[in-house]
Amino acid sequence: MRTIAVAMAKGGVGKTTTAVSLADGLAARGRRVLLVDCDTQDQVAKFLGVNPPYGLAEFVTERTHDGCPVTRNSAVFRARENLWVLSGGIRLAELKTWLGEQPREVRESILRHKLVPREGSIDYLIFDCAPGWDVLSVNILMAATEVLCPVALQGPALEGLKTFFRYLQSAQKLNPELRLKYILPTLFDRRTRHGQQMLEQLGRYFSRQLCAPVHQTVRLCEAPAFGRTIFEHDPGCVAARDYETLVRRVETDEQAARETA
Ligand SMILES: Nc1ncnc2c1ncn2[C@@H]1O[C@H](COP(=O)(O)OP(=O)(O)OP(=O)(O)O)[C@@H](O)[C@H]1O
Ligand SMILES: [Mg+2]
Repeated sequence: MRTIAVAMAKGGVGKTTTAVSLADGLAARGRRVLLVDCDTQDQVAKFLGVNPPYGLAEFVTERTHDGCPVTRNSAVFRARENLWVLSGGIRLAELKTWLGEQPREVRESILRHKLVPREGSIDYLIFDCAPGWDVLSVNILMAATEVLCPVALQGPALEGLKTFFRYLQSAQKLNPELRLKYILPTLFDRRTRHGQQMLEQLGRYFSRQLCAPVHQTVRLCEAPAFGRTIFEHDPGCVAARDYETLVRRVETDEQAARETA
């Protein structure tokens, strides 16, 4: 099983769009994917047009907000064929408080211990991280081995990256297996010089991790309003092709890992 955290401290860079598109694309190719929403905004469920009764908070604490017991299985919601979701939402605020109250020596690795799927049941565990940095972000980076970092090719994007790398380095001290595997440029507009220049700059720093960019397109803004992924909303559009390229790249690495194993 691969565990990929789609993470970036900066907000609005396309983390949820990427996590949902990657999860759906892999699921459509027959991979069994569990997508975990780690954000109080509860966007993953909205993007997929589903309404799970429980989510990550209930999964971890095995309790509803009023204290009724919940089995972990009932918190996992089937959103599509091969695609399951642990939804986020405001209950994650309580989960963060709960995590903060746990003994210091286990606090940061609770998710890692709880999220161990039955052998062979899941191929990909994908985390859609919230912007910022808190006890839940640390838990995710303790549970993940790969980080996919979306970088919006707009504004001072590289500044946001520097801050995020400081977080990542501190997480790597706790979880030495954690690797920055993919840098995904998003909101790419090839008509602007700024976008092109930033893409070249990323290529100079991260030649190994850099993925083909995702273009800025209105189709990606529309799709969540219909509760559809980009592959369902407009499979022929440029963004669907861009995300298809990402899915293929991630899948290729899976084959490469198997061949060298
Ligand atoms: N390539 C793109 N082109 C146009 N719009 C996009 C693109 N990617 C994402 N968006 C839109 O930008 C907004 C922010 O995207 P998204 O929610 O994926 O970012 P995020 O990093 O998860 O944000 P947050 O930090 O708030 O969780 C959404 O309205 C989304 O539809
Ligand atoms: Mg998001």
